[in-house]
Amino acid sequence: MLNARRSIEPERAVASAVAFYPAQPRRVADWPSVWRGFFGERLRNTIYGWPEPAFDVFARTRRVLGFTVHIVSDPDAVERVMLGNKANYERPAIARRIISPLIGNGLLSAEGEDWRKQRRIVAPTFAPGAVAAMAPLMDAAAEQEVAQWPQDCARLDLAAAATRTTMAIIARALFGSDPRLVDPAAARHIEAMLAAAGQARVVTMLGLQDLDPSPTMRRARASRKWLRDTLTQVVRERGPQGGADDFFGNLIRALHGQFPEAEAAELAVDNAITFYVAGHETTANALAWTAYCLAAQLQLQEECREEARAALALPPGERAAAMPTLNQVLEESLRLYPPAPRWDREALAPDELAGVSVERGDLVSIWPWLIHRHRKLWPDADRFDHTRFAPDAKARMHRFQYLPFGGGPRVCVGARFATVEALLILARWLAARRFTVPPGWRPDPVGTVTLRPRGGMPLLAEPA
Ligand code: HEM
Repeated sequence: MLNARRSIEPERAVASAVAFYPAQPRRVADWPSVWRGFFGERLRNTIYGWPEPAFDVFARTRRVLGFTVHIVSDPDAVERVMLGNKANYERPAIARRIISPLIGNGLLSAEGEDWRKQRRIVAPTFAPGAVAAMAPLMDAAAEQEVAQWPQDCARLDLAAAATRTTMAIIARALFGSDPRLVDPAAARHIEAMLAAAGQARVVTMLGLQDLDPSPTMRRARASRKWLRDTLTQVVRERGPQGGADDFFGNLIRALHGQFPEAEAAELAVDNAITFYVAGHETTANALAWTAYCLAAQLQLQEECREEARAALALPPGERAAAMPTLNQVLEESLRLYPPAPRWDREALAPDELAGVSVERGDLVSIWPWLIHRHRKLWPDADRFDHTRFAPDAKARMHRFQYLPFGGGPRVCVGARFATVEALLILARWLAARRFTVPPGWRPDPVGTVTLRPRGGMPLLAEPA
């Protein structure tokens, strides 16, 4: 069971005068029946309609289309799945069936020795020194984006701005600035696939994934084909020697050195899509939600702006560490709006988690969306309070009660890249504009594979 002393923070001084409870979807009083998840808003939005008790209990077992699913929120149990008894938990076969037509056996979906080899190949690119070396290109992309913004007070879709910027950064940092990767069509295709994620899960559980004739699924299949074809073309043009001396070139060469030729060529495409999509979509969401949280708290925004302006005098590689308040604001925004709101594992052998018996083949569902807002883990859980991440408070946290980037050996390989990138972009945004939430408007969070604001994040932006 959970060690209360480690995981529950003591009372602490409140940072701003007015409490801010950021927008979240409707909750219901009690557990709805499982079939409700197959229709309407619950199908489109995984964070909609959760029952209040889900934010109080540490484990709950449900039967979904013949699968036994354990929703586990106890940090000790999550640690067991992700780290302590990791060998017993793989990505579920059902999840692989959903994502493998897009990302094949790339780093995100591979298991065992295939995974280890790929992780070893890419890890050096994301080490702290390597990320610091990419800081100037991250900063330049942020500056270019801000330079296009209107000078007067205007509604600005910060979600779209974030996507443009993070796409440009991933294309430059990893793929030698390939222009196909910054094509606005790519963003539309990714959006179409994400919109279909809930439905894709249900039809795949029913074994009907390629048969569903609905417009949503047809669009998603066409978008998947566009992405796969585009990245296959990029890989073909580079050839087995990898072409340029960049991340992608090195990846292609290393794959050809360690896997048979046909498999290496396929894995190059799988990883191109993996890094392209995972490498910008999540960070873009983190940026949009952080911008919203700051737009709703002007005093805190002012404090972060001062910090950002001072940091801009430093070389880009040194800025992230020079903005402690902005770091805490980003961490708190990732708590309230985890860009990856859920993932699953499948048990290979029986186990026990949070007092619940787990059988071979059972699914274990881990929801940062629930864990990060759990009432037994976070005082006043739905309230924004960045001081939760002040160094002394952070040191008292259970390391598996806060997992925006996952945990254990499968922890996000791009976590540092994403954090530095987000902080550098926010610094440029804040130095240039003062953001406010338009009167009477609230964002509408939608959970699919990621956590997006439906219809974007149209904040008011005026010169700062
Ligand atoms: C705020 C931004 C990001 C968030 C919240 C995020 C979140 C996550 C999470 C939760 C996982 C683990 C999922 C699981 O265990 O099932 C993960 C894995 C992964 N992420 Fe990220 N990510 C972010 C940015 C990035 C970036 C920038 C890249 C690459 C440039 C990236 C590439 C990956 C890859 C390749 C994996 C699979 C790692 C493995 O299985 O070894 N992510 N990410």
